[in-house]
Amino acid sequence: MEAVAEQKYNFDVVRWFTVMAVVYVVVGTLVGVYIASELAWPVLNLDSPYLSFGRLRPLHTNAVIFAFGGCVLMATAFYSVQRTCGVKLWSSKMAWFTFIGWNVVIVAAVITLPLGINQSKEYAELEWPIDIAIAVVWLSYLFNFVMTIIHRKTSHIYVSNWFFLGMMVMITYLHVVNSLAIPVGLFKSYSIFSGVHDAMIQWWWGHNAVGFYLTAGFLGIMYYFVPKQVNRPVFSYRLSVIHFWALMFGYVWLGAHHLQYTALPDWTGSLGAAVSIAMIIPSWGGAVNGLMTLSGAWDRLRTDYVLRFFVISLAFYAMSTFEGPIMSIKTVNALSHYTDWTIGHVHSGALGWVAMVGMGAIYHMMTRLFHVKMYSEKLINIHFWMATIGTVIYVVAMWVSGLMQGLMWRTYDEYGALAYTFAESVEAMHPYYAMRAVGGLLFFLGAVIMLYNVILTVLMAKKAGSIQLAKTVDVKL
Ligand code: HEM
Ligand code: HEM
Repeated sequence: MEAVAEQKYNFDVVRWFTVMAVVYVVVGTLVGVYIASELAWPVLNLDSPYLSFGRLRPLHTNAVIFAFGGCVLMATAFYSVQRTCGVKLWSSKMAWFTFIGWNVVIVAAVITLPLGINQSKEYAELEWPIDIAIAVVWLSYLFNFVMTIIHRKTSHIYVSNWFFLGMMVMITYLHVVNSLAIPVGLFKSYSIFSGVHDAMIQWWWGHNAVGFYLTAGFLGIMYYFVPKQVNRPVFSYRLSVIHFWALMFGYVWLGAHHLQYTALPDWTGSLGAAVSIAMIIPSWGGAVNGLMTLSGAWDRLRTDYVLRFFVISLAFYAMSTFEGPIMSIKTVNALSHYTDWTIGHVHSGALGWVAMVGMGAIYHMMTRLFHVKMYSEKLINIHFWMATIGTVIYVVAMWVSGLMQGLMWRTYDEYGALAYTFAESVEAMHPYYAMRAVGGLLFFLGAVIMLYNVILTVLMAKKAGSIQLAKTVDVKL
């Protein structure tokens, strides 16, 4: 069966995207562990500007979001669009252009960020020539995907493709508008927006990088890979369509919840909070839809380690999409903003949801792309536990310390003076920062195990000649 699939579809580029995603999650989380350790033990800055927290932090976010996340999104979209449309990718050459281009952008980020070349816009740090390259490469991804759908052999466009497509279209215009800048040199530019407008546009992009890139795109993954892994249709197709349209119309209004109590008009924050709360409904609908797809097959969790990644990811998706709306409420945000509670929320979404669902999809694809069993099922299970325990340690440390930090900043003594100095709150954070570094280290080591497992699987496939074999002979592996 899989060999027939190989002849029918183009999986070469998907294989490369898949393996590179695993390489990048190791690199990105390594930098994450390093910056987490710098916060606990500042001596690790080593008095070097290149290793300073300020420069490595954007390297971390770019590596995990755009290098790891991007390769996962490209691998899974190109994989599932072919299978759900029953056709090969429209253009193999264009897919290779996307692969090479995206990796060139990543290398450019790795060089420029530690050098301090930075536009100072979060998740949009890269300078204008790289921004142009991103737009071109992203459009090639979008165009190839759309053309493949246009040439499909099926009458229906499966819902995962809608999520991928929504993500691709929205990210195109968000990236282009937010990156509009006047260059004053090859490595320096100034945003065409200023003051409040700049902040508003930046967080319109910033939240939607979360809403479309880290949520809608990864929901595309969930809607294809969870039913495939369980071998059952999605619990409610109608609910998935409602989930899609509600996210598309809802998410774009949320950006201002990142800017409560700032110079923005007050009503924009209220609007952002109101729509944020409303987003609990479709988000939970989607999470329940994913989980209910397992009904009648829950016993599979005992033996199917890949399914475990998906179930945990859905639990964290539900958790972070409940927490986010609560944090957007002004009175709660007055406590949470600027504290590590936000970092806890980010990583319950990023580690628990994005990374777990992405890793599950990678394991699912590996056996089908390389036509061999994984080198070790046991290592998948070990990875699963390390990732889950690491995530829990990380987010619990940040939730507890974030609340403590916020409360320390707003406690007054009987004379109305602040009860704690800022330095005291920093000191109180130390044990939690150390705990976060330990949780992160566990997560990172789990990713290293995954890389080892993936490399040995690829070597096994090469040795068995199963990739070449599958192209010519109909063998079931
Ligand atoms: C070993 C795992 C990881 C560790 C130890 C780690 C650590 C960190 C640290 C220390 C920060 C800076 C926090 C601060 O400024 O106070 C950070 C920020 C961030 N990380 Fe991670 N990280 C990890 C994995 C990931 C992954 C897999 C993703 C995404 C898929 C991610 C996304 C982010 C984002 C978006 C931010 C910026 C948060 C904000 O500005 O509010 N991280 N991370
Ligand atoms: C309905 C869903 C969600 C809502 C309404 C929401 C809301 C929020 C709010 C209110 C903040 C804090 C803003 C601040 O005080 O500065 C925040 C921060 C953040 N959230 Fe969510 N969230 C949601 C889901 C998610 C998910 C699934 C992820 C996945 C990774 C995520 C990633 C982030 C990131 C990266 C930040 C930090 C942004 C920054 O300051 O750099 N959120 N979110």
